[in-house]
Amino acid sequence: MCCREGPRWGRGHCAPSPTLLLGLLMSAAPLGLLGEETRQVSLEVIPDWPGAPQNLLHIRAVGTNSTLHYVWSSMGPPAVLLVATNTPHSTLAVNWSCLLSPEPAGGLTVLPRDSVQFSSALVFTRLLEFDSTNTSEASAKPPGKPYPPYSLAEFSWNNITDSLDPATLSATFQGHPIHDPTAAFANGSLAFRVQAFPSSGRPAQAPRLLHSADTCQLEVALVGACPRGNRSLFGLEVVTLGQGPECPSVQEQRSIDDEYAPAVFQLDQLVWGSLPSGFVQWRPVAFSQRQRGRDSALPCQASPVCLTLEYPLPQSPIVRAFFGSQTNFCAFNLTFGAPTGPGYWDEHYLSWSMLLGVGTPPVDSLSPLILGIMAVALGAPGLMLLAGGVVLLLGHKQCSEYQPIN
Ligand SMILES: *[C@@H]1O[C@H](CO)[C@@H](O)[C@H](O)[C@H]1NC(C)=O
Ligand SMILES: *[C@@H]1O[C@H](CO)[C@@H](O)[C@H](O)[C@H]1NC(C)=O
Ligand SMILES: *[C@@H]1O[C@H](CO)[C@@H](O)[C@H](O)[C@H]1NC(C)=O
Ligand SMILES: *[C@@H]1O[C@H](CO)[C@@H](O)[C@H](O)[C@H]1NC(C)=O
Ligand SMILES: *[C@@H]1O[C@H](CO)[C@@H](O)[C@H](O)[C@H]1NC(C)=O
Ligand SMILES: *[C@@H]1O[C@H](CO)[C@@H](O)[C@H](O)[C@H]1NC(C)=O
Ligand SMILES: *[C@@H]1O[C@H](CO)[C@@H](O)[C@H](O)[C@H]1NC(C)=O
Repeated sequence: MCCREGPRWGRGHCAPSPTLLLGLLMSAAPLGLLGEETRQVSLEVIPDWPGAPQNLLHIRAVGTNSTLHYVWSSMGPPAVLLVATNTPHSTLAVNWSCLLSPEPAGGLTVLPRDSVQFSSALVFTRLLEFDSTNTSEASAKPPGKPYPPYSLAEFSWNNITDSLDPATLSATFQGHPIHDPTAAFANGSLAFRVQAFPSSGRPAQAPRLLHSADTCQLEVALVGACPRGNRSLFGLEVVTLGQGPECPSVQEQRSIDDEYAPAVFQLDQLVWGSLPSGFVQWRPVAFSQRQRGRDSALPCQASPVCLTLEYPLPQSPIVRAFFGSQTNFCAFNLTFGAPTGPGYWDEHYLSWSMLLGVGTPPVDSLSPLILGIMAVALGAPGLMLLAGGVVLLLGHKQCSEYQPIN
């Protein structure tokens, strides 16, 4: 409602153009040759103030010349601060009495202050739910009629210490509404699983986002909650900080139909300012089953990002503690699923992943398997000539018909 530009619905997945594919083929280099940056990553739950149990998780990723700080918390709505410094020795200082006060500005600082090169934040303010039953009719626009949203500031969260796993560098914030008159979350929860990485790689599970030591992954999962309608679509409202008077925008990048992410040709990216700065990256796909595959893939739509002056949003104490009160907040909505096809209604399960990081966002290259198949089957000159044909073959995943040429 706050945007003049309406949400853009129904942008389907598009196939990459032959020229784009050719460009990608020519620039695709095995990851190992690009040089891997590694970081010394540690996760620490910051001990809380007596009598006021709070979750504050500090991820510190130290490189040769820089340190990244990710501070996750479920004080207020779940939020993360992202701070990059140009020294391997920067530290996070927490003043609990200030942080828990009504005026938290100054309660969180990264020292030395002049080492900070970039900082921003994301806040997950509300879980949205829409009734998509009648969206095929002209009267109702996708994603459908909104139900009253769940404010994530009014959730109760588990003790983050219990889910901390130093082996996988991960921790999970799991919560449910404090007031739940309809018992929708009696057997359900919303979980934010956070994971850091010491080096680059790719998880085993879809959507297999390529990560680096400069990034942190967030996996959001809604499990077992009772939807309010037979065809409920869920969404997340996300708030971020604008740099200056403008809001960052969500850019769509074409990606390749690769074995890593079959049938998803797009990578969405939110970038704060000109690169290299901070970024959020995700594939526009969510999953309606723990077994993530094509059968359970749902589209994920992002609304335009706009200033939030016109409607009140729950405030995050950690964001106010670090940034003070004079900041521009920008919001956008993510919506998962479509009125038809698989949905949350199948198994009362929904998961979606994103990466948060600083520097240059990881760029997908063709997987070694696909490169190998093409090299063997075509040879390099043929590759150039037949780039157009490759598009078709890749698009239809007919690698098996392809090998007999050899
Ligand atoms: C979380 O658990 C740890 C150890 O199990 C305990 O020391 C801490 O006080 C707990 N925190 C909260 C918020 O309950
Ligand atoms: C770290 O900084 C030093 C001096 O500024 C520079 O020579 C070196 O190349 C930097 N190392 C990396 C990995 O950026
Ligand atoms: C923490 O903040 C309080 C105000 O909330 C202030 O009085 C106190 O001096 C601060 N402590 C430190 C160590 O800075
Ligand atoms: C959907 O449309 C039907 C027929 O127009 C109407 O009876 C029903 O109340 C509508 N349902 C919702 C949720 O709007
Ligand atoms: C929660 O689970 C219990 C046991 O499995 C079941 O009896 C109960 O009906 C469920 N409640 C809701 C609201 O689904
Ligand atoms: C949901 O579906 C059931 C059976 O298909 C139907 O009886 C019920 O009225 C539907 N509920 C809503 C809110 O549309
Ligand atoms: C997000 O969705 C909610 C509920 O429909 C709406 O009130 C809000 O204006 C939307 N925000 C944006 C930025 O589109």
